[in-house]
Amino acid sequence: MLAPEGRIIMVSGANRGIGRAVAEALYGAGYTLSLAARDPASLKPVAGKWAEGRVLIERYDAEDQATHRRWVDATASRFGRIDGLVNNAGMVVRVRIEDEKDTELDRMWAVNVKAPLSMIRAALPHLRRSGSGRIVNVVSIAGKAVYNNNAGYAMTKFAAVALSHAARRAGWEDGVRCTALCPGFVATDMTADVETFPHEQMMEPGDIAEVVLTILGLSNNASIAELVINCRDDVTM
Ligand SMILES: NC(=O)c1ccc[n+]([C@@H]2O[C@H](COP(=O)([O-])OP(=O)(O)OC[C@H]3O[C@@H](n4cnc5c(N)ncnc54)[C@H](OP(=O)(O)O)[C@@H]3O)[C@@H](O)[C@H]2O)c1
Repeated sequence: MLAPEGRIIMVSGANRGIGRAVAEALYGAGYTLSLAARDPASLKPVAGKWAEGRVLIERYDAEDQATHRRWVDATASRFGRIDGLVNNAGMVVRVRIEDEKDTELDRMWAVNVKAPLSMIRAALPHLRRSGSGRIVNVVSIAGKAVYNNNAGYAMTKFAAVALSHAARRAGWEDGVRCTALCPGFVATDMTADVETFPHEQMMEPGDIAEVVLTILGLSNNASIAELVINCRDDVTM
């Protein structure tokens, strides 16, 4: 496994839910982190007491492209390298086929697809220089199968799977490996109003964090292109 010490990993939406659990697990394992959120102050409860030399806090608004390159530039200038990018920030709004909710759909495209693309574009030169750069896109099982009536969310997550494969191919020769991580239900704010599946049977954010740790640690010769992880017997997979 790659040693975490000295490796710089960026995590978006690290202030709560899966992103927070990933940040905490990576810090505990010895990585140095560049964390970002729409409101950087919301990262204080996560990383406020961490060693100053091992964390950078920046602003990332998926809908404001200027913040993407600024975050990447700030990370490279502070640490001199970037070894990993975890595109975690994402959103869900219900947009069924019959719904005329183009504004909501456009926002999901911006946050779930275009922003991860823009982050990959900005970080890729640094990840290439690393020689063992890693990209983990926190997608969803909704990117693998259409299992409910939220056509809009599934469309954006299918596109995020495509983006993951495209990024994997783009960076392959320079040692960049990209994974589309596709969880089923995870108990976070995003699933708080789900009534079709018991919350106590959902995965915990820490389960996803453990998987991210493993993906980041694998050598260049062990690339996981897609990983589906679920809390239920999913007949569609
Ligand atoms: N929970 C699940 O069952 C599940 C399953 C599969 C995949 N996922 C995916 O996992 C990722 C994390 O979800 P979660 O469950 O941890 O959800 P969550 O608790 O609702 O957290 C969502 C995170 O994304 C951030 N975010 C949303 N819109 C943003 C924007 N415009 N710019 C920057 N950050 C933004 C949020 O920041 P703010 O605090 O500023 O809102 C927050 O940090 C998402 O990509 C989601 O689609 C979740």
